[in-house]
Amino acid sequence: MAILKILQYPDERLHTVAETVPEITDKTRALIRDMAETMYAEPGIGLAATQVDIHQRIIVIDTSETHDRLLVFINPEITANSGKSDCEEGCLSVPGIYGKVRRAEAITVKALDSDGKPFVLDASGLLAVCLQHEMDHLMGKVFVEYWSKLKQSRVLAKLKKRKRNTL
Ligand code: NI
Repeated sequence: MAILKILQYPDERLHTVAETVPEITDKTRALIRDMAETMYAEPGIGLAATQVDIHQRIIVIDTSETHDRLLVFINPEITANSGKSDCEEGCLSVPGIYGKVRRAEAITVKALDSDGKPFVLDASGLLAVCLQHEMDHLMGKVFVEYWSKLKQSRVLAKLKKRKRNTL
């Protein structure tokens, strides 16, 4: 297993649209293990393959307090959604930046697990928010891009300043 390097916003590669996984192989499963290890090490509650510069539709999530409920979503699709929620979000690709994004309060997702078996999951609350956030990554969208241009430019300035201070 290995800890993978997470792309940092505004890295252009975060805007890549991921491709459907045509076949789940041992290589796919090794990638999923590495993604999970990377997410737990940070620690984070979700990671999309896009964030580790692999442009395939794969997400790992664990929103449990005990960090032992790994969920794997391959080729996820939202088939239903309802309600609205404004939840404070953060992202391993945009460290130190937090803010609200309006999303559906509850969603139904269909996907494949790491054995290629299809499943359907009804999610609400934090899990629903996390899934929508990670699925955005697969479409090349980062959560701060929901905000106004002004707020985004403040985020960029803050990240630039921090980078300068750590050099
Ligand atoms: Ni993220």
